[in-house]
Amino acid sequence: MQRFKNKHVLITGGTSGIGKATAQEFIDHGAQVIITGRFQDTLEKTVHELGPNARGIVSDAGKMADLFALEGSVAAITPKIDVLYVNAGFGKYASLENVDEAHIDEMVNVLVKGTLFTVQQVLPLMTAGSSVILNTSIVTEVGMPDSSVYSACKAAVQSFVKTFASELSPKGIRVNAVSPGPIATNYFDRSNLSEEQVEALAGDVLAQVPLARFGEPSEVAKAVSFLASDDAFFIHGTEIFVDGGFPKVRV
Ligand SMILES: NC(=O)c1ccc[n+]([C@@H]2O[C@H](COP(=O)([O-])OP(=O)(O)OC[C@H]3O[C@@H](n4cnc5c(N)ncnc54)[C@H](OP(=O)(O)O)[C@@H]3O)[C@@H](O)[C@H]2O)c1
Repeated sequence: MQRFKNKHVLITGGTSGIGKATAQEFIDHGAQVIITGRFQDTLEKTVHELGPNARGIVSDAGKMADLFALEGSVAAITPKIDVLYVNAGFGKYASLENVDEAHIDEMVNVLVKGTLFTVQQVLPLMTAGSSVILNTSIVTEVGMPDSSVYSACKAAVQSFVKTFASELSPKGIRVNAVSPGPIATNYFDRSNLSEEQVEALAGDVLAQVPLARFGEPSEVAKAVSFLASDDAFFIHGTEIFVDGGFPKVRV
């Protein structure tokens, strides 16, 4: 039960959904966990729910000033991070005709720049034996309507898995990703889609899941904790899909 005892875990975007469930998973196995989120009040509420082994840092993954302050804020809590789970993000949807520059900037800032600079900034706190896990998505493997920008940004993150793994191998730091399929979270809250559109999309997606349901955030969390554990000590530069068998090619 205590396989992460004395381990320090940083999870970006830990106030709900997959990030929060992953924080709970690590805490259940003995870890000290720091979560980030954009808002003090949500962060405080979540830290309270997670209990005494959780701490919170207000940090917006889409803002460079916050990303550059992250190392200092984390170091004020712990001198080392054993597991970094870069999870903060959301998916914004629009048809090709309706994508504008602000849409692209928002997605690139949080998902692409946010992921790269989070890893860059936290790296000085990580040593041999530690592990980075990135949050990718099934959208990199399918042609899903209205998701061109989000899918491209997650594809960039998927690409980081290989390049970061190659760069961090000499330091003995493993890099992998967990790619969630449809998971029941607050994911659609900032999707730019109406309630009806969300319902239609969810129905369409659900019809394609061989296991015929949305996944639970805790099911993604278990894959993240596996990749971070000693059981995955020789797993490096790859991606685990937690998607109920979602078909990987669709036009
Ligand atoms: N649910 C799915 O089906 C699914 C599938 C594949 C991939 N994903 C990915 O999984 C990750 C987590 O999403 P979720 O499904 O768990 O949705 P969620 O319940 O909405 O959780 C998103 C989390 O990310 C945080 N966040 C969002 N923007 C942030 C920012 N700029 N800076 C810091 N934190 C930020 C949110 O915190 P605050 O709002 O408090 O800032 C929240 O804790 C995302 O990267 C998403 O793209 C989800």
